[in-house]
Amino acid sequence: MRTDTGQVFHLEDYKPTDFLIPETHLDFALHPERSIVKSTLRIERRQGTAADAPLVLDGDELNLVDIRIDGAPLGDNTYVATPDRLEIRGLPESGAFTLELTTEINPSTNRQLTGLYRSSNVYCTQCEAEGFRRITYFLDRPDLLSVYTVRIEAERSEAPLLLSNGNPKDKGTLTNGRHFAVWHDPHPKPAYLFALVAGDLGLIKDTFTTASGRHVDLGIYVEHGKEPRALYAMDALKRSMKWDEEVFGREYDLDVFNVVAVSDFNMGAMENKGLNVFNDKYVLADPDTATDTDYAGIEAVIAHEYFHNWTGNRITCRDWFQLCLKEGLTVYRDHEFSADMRSRPVKRIAEVKGLKAHQFPEDAGPLAHPVRPRQFREINNFYTSTVYEKGSEVVRMIRTILGPELFRKGMDLYFERHDGDAATIEDFIKVFEDASGEDLSQFAFWYDQAGTPNLAITYDYDPATKTFEIEIEQSIKPTPGQPSKKPMHIPVQFALLGAKGRELKPRSAKGGLVKDDVIHLRKRKERFSFSGISERPVPSLLRGFSAPVTLTSELTRSDLVFLARNDGDEVTRWQALTQLLNAKLTSNSKRVRGGKPATIENSSIKLLGEIAFNPALDEAFRALSLSIPSESDIARELGANIDPDAILGSRDALVSAVAKAHAERFAELYDDLDQTGPFQPDAASAGRRALRNVLLDYRSVAQGTPKLAAAQFKHADNMTDRAAALGVLVQRFGGTDATCEALRAFEERFGNDPLVMDKWFVVQAMQPGSEALGKVRGLMTHKLFSLDNPNRTRALIGAFSSGNQTGFNRADGHGYRFFAETVLTIDKKNPQLAARLLTAMRSWRSFEPVRREHAREALATIATVTGLSTDVRDIVERTLA
Ligand code: ARG
Ligand code: ZN
Repeated sequence: MRTDTGQVFHLEDYKPTDFLIPETHLDFALHPERSIVKSTLRIERRQGTAADAPLVLDGDELNLVDIRIDGAPLGDNTYVATPDRLEIRGLPESGAFTLELTTEINPSTNRQLTGLYRSSNVYCTQCEAEGFRRITYFLDRPDLLSVYTVRIEAERSEAPLLLSNGNPKDKGTLTNGRHFAVWHDPHPKPAYLFALVAGDLGLIKDTFTTASGRHVDLGIYVEHGKEPRALYAMDALKRSMKWDEEVFGREYDLDVFNVVAVSDFNMGAMENKGLNVFNDKYVLADPDTATDTDYAGIEAVIAHEYFHNWTGNRITCRDWFQLCLKEGLTVYRDHEFSADMRSRPVKRIAEVKGLKAHQFPEDAGPLAHPVRPRQFREINNFYTSTVYEKGSEVVRMIRTILGPELFRKGMDLYFERHDGDAATIEDFIKVFEDASGEDLSQFAFWYDQAGTPNLAITYDYDPATKTFEIEIEQSIKPTPGQPSKKPMHIPVQFALLGAKGRELKPRSAKGGLVKDDVIHLRKRKERFSFSGISERPVPSLLRGFSAPVTLTSELTRSDLVFLARNDGDEVTRWQALTQLLNAKLTSNSKRVRGGKPATIENSSIKLLGEIAFNPALDEAFRALSLSIPSESDIARELGANIDPDAILGSRDALVSAVAKAHAERFAELYDDLDQTGPFQPDAASAGRRALRNVLLDYRSVAQGTPKLAAAQFKHADNMTDRAAALGVLVQRFGGTDATCEALRAFEERFGNDPLVMDKWFVVQAMQPGSEALGKVRGLMTHKLFSLDNPNRTRALIGAFSSGNQTGFNRADGHGYRFFAETVLTIDKKNPQLAARLLTAMRSWRSFEPVRREHAREALATIATVTGLSTDVRDIVERTLA
C-alpha cells in the first residue's frame, strides 16, 4: 500500500515526457502467487531532451528481477530501482533503444484491486488511474501513447481463456499443460487502458456489423452457469453501438469487443480498449434476481464504457486534471442514450434527483472541487459526482447554449481534430467556439469554479404596458480555496405560462440576452424584460433542468401548485411539486424537533392524488411524483442544524396523511396495476411496477400491518416487486415476524448468490432507528460477508453510512465510532474503497451540535492514525479542514 507522502500535484506543473515509448511488448507468465512480467519497450528520446537526461519510470510495489538495454544487462551503477521508481542514466547516445524489464508480482495477495489481481480465480487488471505501474515500470501517465502487443501464458486448466486488448493474433499449446495467446492493439493508447484477463469463464457470443461494414465479434464473459444472465447486457451493447453511429457518427474500430464480468471490482466498470472489465453487478440480470434499477444501470454502464471508445480512448486526456474531458462527456453521452431508449423526461428527472442527492452536497461541503480540479494528492479521490455528473451537465449546457446543430458540428470537429490526441478542456471548448463562432470564455468558468450557483429571482408584471420582467442574481458560496467567484454564463430555459398552462409568446425581449426559449444569464445581476404579455404569467424556469443550479424565487404557493398542475415540461412540473413538499417537510422537521406535531395542509394531499390518478401521465412520472422527498433530501434542504430523527418524523407524518387520505383509491390503483404476462424490463413496464410499489408503501402505512407487503413478497415473480416488498417490510415493520420470515425466505432462496444477497444486506443496513447498528455489526459475521469484497462492503457499510440517516447518525455517536473503526480496517486492505466510504461523512458540519461533535471526534480518530493510505489521509484532512 502507498502511504501518504504529503505530495500534492498541480495542473500548472504539466510538462511533456522526455522520452516516448512508441512500442510496448508485454509477456506475462501467469502464476497465482508468482507472475512474471517481461516488458520490452521501444524507447526514443524526445526531440529537445538533453542527451544526458535520465529515464525515470513510475512503479508501485514492484520487484525488479532483470533489466537490459539493447539486450545487454545493466551495470548496477547505471540505474536505481526502488519499488516505486526506476531511474536509468548513461543511456545510448542515439537516444533510441530497447529496454527490457522483468518484474515479479503476486496477484493473489493484491487486495487493493489495482494492477494485476485475482478475483474468484480469474486474473484481471485495473489500471486506471495509476495501476499499470503496479505491473511494470513505465511512463504511467495518460499522454504517453504506445502500441501494445501482449503475450499471455498460463496453465490451461486454470486459465483456458487468455484475453487482452485489440485483436487476437496467435495462440498455441506449450509443454507442462501451459498455453499462450498473443494480442495486438493497433491503436496507440495510454497505459491506463491496458487490460488482461485470464481464467475459466462462460461466454455468450454475438456479432455486430458497423455502418461501413466492419464485422465485429462480441463476447461477454461471466462465471460458468450465469451466461443467460448476460443476455440483457449483450442487447444493451448492440443498441449502444448502433446509437453511437446514428447520433454521434462514431463507429467501432476493432474486430472484437469483449466484456468480462468480475466479482471483485472497485468501481462500476472500465473502458480498456476492446476489453471492458465490469463489476458483475453491471452485467448480470434476469427477472428473478435483478430489479428494474439494475436493468437500467446495466444499460447505462454498458453504454458508458462502450462510448468511451471514442470519448476517452481514441481521444484521451493529457493529464488526470482533465478527467472530466472523458468522464463528463461520456456520462452526457450515456444519459442521452438512456433518454432515447426510455422516457426522456423521466430519465431527466432521475438525473436531477441523483445530481441533487450526490453532487450538490459534495459541492456544498468540504470536499467541493471544480469540475476540472487544479490540484490533487490522490487522483482516485477525484472520480466524483462533480467530475462525472456535473461534468456531464456542463456538456449539456454547451448544447443548450449552441443548439443541437452547432453542438453536433462541434463534436464532429472534436473527433476530427483530436482523434489520436491526449487532449485538454481548452481543446474541447475551442472546437465549439470554432464550430459556432461564439465566445465561450465566460462559460468555461464552469470548469474552474466549484460550488452550486444559486439564482435569486424576482418578477414584475405591469399590466398597463403588458411587460413582464425577470431579475436574476447569481451567487456561489465560498468553496475550499475559492473565497469569491466570477459571474458565469448560465443558460436558463424558460416559458411564460398563462391560464391553464398555455405558453405566452413575448413580442420582444429586452435587457439581458434571450434566444428562443433560453435566458442567457451572464452578469452577476441581470434584468430580462418581455413585452406583449397580455396577462400576469407564471414563469416556468430552468426547464429540463437546463443548468445545475438552485433557485430562490418569489413564486407563491399557488404559483407552485399551478406549475405542478399545468407545466408542460415534466421536469419543472416535478420540480414545483418537490419544492412545495420540501417547504412543508422542512418546516415540519423544525416543529417536530421543537416537540410540536407536524401539520399537513390538504392542498398537497389533493395534488398528489390528482397526479396519482391522472391516466394521461406516464406511470413512471407518477411514481416519481408520489415518492415523497427522502430523509437526505430534506436534510439537504434544511442545510444546517440537522436532526435526522425529527426529519424522519416529519416525513412519516406526510406519508401517513397522504396514505390515509387516498387509502381506497390507492388500493384500487394498486390492483389495477397488477402485472399481466411475463416480466419485461422495458421502461413502460418498469414505470408500472414503480408506481405500484410506491402505492404498496402508502397502503401498508395506511393499514398499519405488514400483511400486504408480506403477500407481495411471497407471490412476486420478479426481483423488483420482491425487493420493494422487502424494503417496505424492513422500513415500516422491522423486527415483526412477517419481516423476519421474509428475510429468512430471501436468504434461503438466494443465499448462494452473493450479488443478489447484496440487496438483503442493503435493506437491513437501511432499517431506520438505533437498531440498525447492531444489525450491521451482526451481519459482518455472516458467511457471505467480507470486507475484501467491494460490493459486499458497499452493500452493508456503504448503505448504512450513506443511506441510513437515523441509524448511522445516532445521537450517541456510536454509528460514527463504528464507522471510523471499519474504515481503518478497510484502509489496510483497499485504500480506494476506504476513502470512498469515508466521504459519507462529508456533511458532518450540517448536523445539530451533539452529533456534529461526535462526528468530529470520529474523524479526528482517523486523522491521528499513522500509516494511513494517501487516499484516506486526503479525504479525512479535507473533510476536517
Ligand atoms: N473510467 C472508469 C469509468 O468509466 C472508472 C475507473 C475508475 N477507476 C479508478 N480506480 N479510479 O468510469
Ligand atoms: Zn467513464
